[in-house]
Amino acid sequence: MKVICTEKSQILGSRLAEALEADITDARFARFPDGELYVRAGGLDTEMVVVGSIVDSDSFVELLLLIDACADAGTTLVIPYMGYARQDRQFNPGEPVSARAIARALSRGVDHVITVNIHEDSVLSHFDVPAASVSLAPDIGAFIRTMGCKDPLILAPDGGAAAFAAAIAAAGGWDCDELKKTRLSGDHVRIEPKTIAAAGREVVIVDDIISTGGTLATATAMLYEAGAAAVHTACVHGVLAGGAYARLCHAGVRSVAASDTIESASSRFSAAGRIAAAIRTP
Ligand code: R5P
Repeated sequence: MKVICTEKSQILGSRLAEALEADITDARFARFPDGELYVRAGGLDTEMVVVGSIVDSDSFVELLLLIDACADAGTTLVIPYMGYARQDRQFNPGEPVSARAIARALSRGVDHVITVNIHEDSVLSHFDVPAASVSLAPDIGAFIRTMGCKDPLILAPDGGAAAFAAAIAAAGGWDCDELKKTRLSGDHVRIEPKTIAAAGREVVIVDDIISTGGTLATATAMLYEAGAAAVHTACVHGVLAGGAYARLCHAGVRSVAASDTIESASSRFSAAGRIAAAIRTP
């Protein structure tokens, strides 16, 4: 078995290879003069693990090209962060179900797919091959333990994150609560007023994705109004789009932690172990 990864998933790809005790294949990425992407894989094996988060259009095309380069191998596709997964239904007439379009395109030439904390499990059904999502809730719990917070309150910013937050809280035996969010636009949300037992406490808001930071900045303001001593954030996928990191700092967030499904300075824990375990035990 060998691992090959797209350009923006090199660190997680290498960590995954290490966890699998497999070689990482040397892949070269370049562009033709007209801007088209070119990839060339080094040594391939009969069993390949192709790793790539969809963080932009180029990384999606790189995945398609790597899958095709591995056409003669049995292939496991790992999509640590699946961009486009949030458009998982038609919200308005004329829109595509983008998650379905991406899943179908990536199903050809692979045997099965592994994702990490996919936005909705229903997205997995759009792949034409068996697909699974692993959860980093225990890893976030382990990370929070290293932060040294005394009796932290784990908070989900909306109902969709409630089960995830509960699993993280269970990892440390911490209290857990949830807010109710309504999305007003791409970067603005309204959070229903709610009495949270946050006075004097350190609160860690957890979510699957931090994109614009709008959700967590709004929740942070509410928590400080409720007397929180400090607010931290932790997520799986640190998209951090459109100035999100600065927005969170401005809101008074003390720390922003994410996994390496999207590689950045905020990547504080790795998805490699969970993915490796899912590959070893399908
Ligand atoms: C939405 O359902 C997700 O779980 C996240 O809450 C959302 O993607 C966060 O987006 P933003 O950071 O732009 O508020």
